[in-house]
Amino acid sequence: MCGIIGITGCLDVPEAILEGLARLEYRGYDSAGVALQVEDGLWVSRAANGSKSLADLRRAVSGAPGSCRAGIGHTRWATHGKPSEVNAHPHQDCKGTLAVVHNGIIENHFEIAAKLSAAGHELVSSTDSEVLAHLVEEAIAEGASLVDAVRACMKKVRGSLAMVVVHASDPELMVAARRVSPLIVATADAAGLVASDVPALLGWATAMYALEDDEVAEVSPGGVLVSDASGARVEPARLEVDWDVGAAQKGGFDDFMLKEIHEQPDAVAGTLMGRLSPSGEVLLDEMRIDDDELREVEKVFIVACGSSYHAGLVAKYAMEHWARTAVEIDIASEFRYRDPILDSRTLVIGVSQSGETLDTLQAIRYARRWNAKVLVVSNVVDSSMAREADGVIYTRAGPEIGVAATKTFLAQLVALEVLSLYLAGLRGTLYPAEISGLLDSMRELPAKVAQALEGSKDIFDVAARFASAEEFFFIGRHVGYPVALEGALKLKEISYLHAEGYPAGELKHGPIALLEEGTVVVGIATRTRLWEKMMANVAEVRARGAMVVLVANDGDEETAALADATLWVPSTHPLFAPVLDVIPLQLFAYALARARGNDVDRPRNLAKTVTVE
Ligand code: F6R
Repeated sequence: MCGIIGITGCLDVPEAILEGLARLEYRGYDSAGVALQVEDGLWVSRAANGSKSLADLRRAVSGAPGSCRAGIGHTRWATHGKPSEVNAHPHQDCKGTLAVVHNGIIENHFEIAAKLSAAGHELVSSTDSEVLAHLVEEAIAEGASLVDAVRACMKKVRGSLAMVVVHASDPELMVAARRVSPLIVATADAAGLVASDVPALLGWATAMYALEDDEVAEVSPGGVLVSDASGARVEPARLEVDWDVGAAQKGGFDDFMLKEIHEQPDAVAGTLMGRLSPSGEVLLDEMRIDDDELREVEKVFIVACGSSYHAGLVAKYAMEHWARTAVEIDIASEFRYRDPILDSRTLVIGVSQSGETLDTLQAIRYARRWNAKVLVVSNVVDSSMAREADGVIYTRAGPEIGVAATKTFLAQLVALEVLSLYLAGLRGTLYPAEISGLLDSMRELPAKVAQALEGSKDIFDVAARFASAEEFFFIGRHVGYPVALEGALKLKEISYLHAEGYPAGELKHGPIALLEEGTVVVGIATRTRLWEKMMANVAEVRARGAMVVLVANDGDEETAALADATLWVPSTHPLFAPVLDVIPLQLFAYALARARGNDVDRPRNLAKTVTVE
C-alpha cells in the first residue's frame, strides 16, 4: 500500500529518492517523507498535504544541509492513524539516531507500544509503524548491530511488514527486511537500492532481488548481503525484469484494473489482518461505538452507492442471519428524501471505498441529525465520512486506481461480514464456537480468492464466445442476487454493453419477455441454499433460447451440464460465497471490454469518486 525507496552511494541521493517517490506516486498516497544521511547525522522531513506532499517535500529537501550519502523515502497510504505529518514516515527512535520506513500492518502494535512506553520510550505518532523504530533502538541499546537489531525486531512483531532502517552511526548502510509485504533490493554501479516495487528502481538497478519472508538484507554501495531469520547467509532470488516504467507500475499487467483484480487476495488478507483473534473473537480497533450501545441497536440501515451498495446488500443477508438484527438497505441518494425512521437506537452504516461520495456523506449527516449512531466502512483513512462517523471499519485494500471497483468491493464484503459476526457475538445470537468456526472459514478466503483467480485463467477464451452478444442478464438468488447486480454493473461500466442484474426468481415476472436467441444469461449457481431453485430458473431461461454462463463450484459437473460455459470458483460457507463468486464476473467483464478495445481503467462518463449529487 505504501511506497518505499532507499538509495545509498549514488551521486545525488536526494534527487534520486524524490524521483523514486514520484515513480511510486501512481499507488496513491496521502503523505510522504525522507530521511537523509547528511554530515551531522540524520535529516528527516515529512509532508502531509495529500497529493501535494511530494511537491512540499521537494521544496524542503532543496534546503537539506550538506552532502548526502544515503537516504530512504516513503509515500504513505494511511491504515493506522490519520494522514498527518507526525504519522508520516520515516519514524524515529527516542534519540533521533535512526529512521524507519514501513509498509504493512503490525498486528500486535498496541501490545508492543504499551511495553515500550512502560520501558520509557516516547512514542509520538498513532501509527503501528513507529514501534519498529523503538524496537530496533532497544536492541541496539542491548549491544546488537543494526542488522541483528532488525532481526530481533522482526521476531517481536506479528503481521506484514516491509521495512528499511538507517542509522546515523553507519551512514552508507541500509538494512531492509520483509514478511508478507514485498520488498526488492538491488545493486547498481557503486550504489545499493531498495524499494517496495519495481518501477522505483527501473533504469538504475543492474540486478534486482526479491527478499523472501523473514529475510534481512544489508544494502551498501558495495552490494547486498542477505541473511535469513537465524542470521545464516542466503543467495537471494534474482528478478528478471524487462518492463518499462508504465508496465512496471501496473505490475506487468496491461492495466490497473487487472492488476487490482489480482491484488484481491492481499486486499482480503489485509482487511482481515488483526481482526480475527486466535481465540475465535472478532477485534475491531477503530469501532469507537460502545459495545452496550451496539447491543441496544434495534435497527440497522445500510446506505451506499454502486458497488458499495451491492456489498451492503450482501451484508443485509449476513447481518440478519447471524446477528438477527433487522437491516434496511438504501441507495444513498434516495435515503434522506424518503423520511426514514431513525433514532438513537438506530445504527446507520455508510459503505464507501472513497469515503467521499457526496450522496453517502449526506446520508450519514442526515442520520446524525436524527441521533442515529453512524458507522462507516471506508478504504481511505480519515476520509470525510470516517471523520464524521461515530466509528469506522477500514478496508485495507490499498489505493484503487481503476475506476471500476474490484479489490475494494471484496474488501468491503469481508469487512461487513466481520462486522456481522462482531454484532452476533455482542448480541449472543451465535455461540462462540459457531463464530470461531466461521472465522476459520474466513481465514481461508485469501487463499481461495487466489484459487478463484487461478481458475479463471481461460476467461478470455470463454468471453470470446460471447463477444458478439448485445444483451446480458445476470441472475442469482439469496446472496447470489447482489453478486448478479455487481456482475452486471461491471459489464455495463467497462464494456458499455447492456446488462441487467435480477433476482433469478423475479425474471418470470416480466423481464423474461426480453429473452431471445442470443441473449446471454449469466447465473450465479454455486451451491448455496437456493441452488435447486436457481437451477429451475436456469432451465426456464434455457427453454427461451438464451445462452447460459454459470458460476459453479469447482468440480460441480451437474451444474456445468446446464451451461454453455462455466466459470469455476472454490466452494466456501454460503454467506462468504459472494467474495469468490464475483471474481470470474469481474474478469468476464474485463475480457469483453478489452475485446471491444475499451480503456478499462478510465471508462467513459465515469468518475472514480462522485462528489456531486
Ligand atoms: C462501480 C463503482 C461505483 C462506486 C460508487 C460508490 O465499479 O466504482 O459504483 O462503487 O460510486 O463509490 P464509493 O464506494 O467511493 O462511495
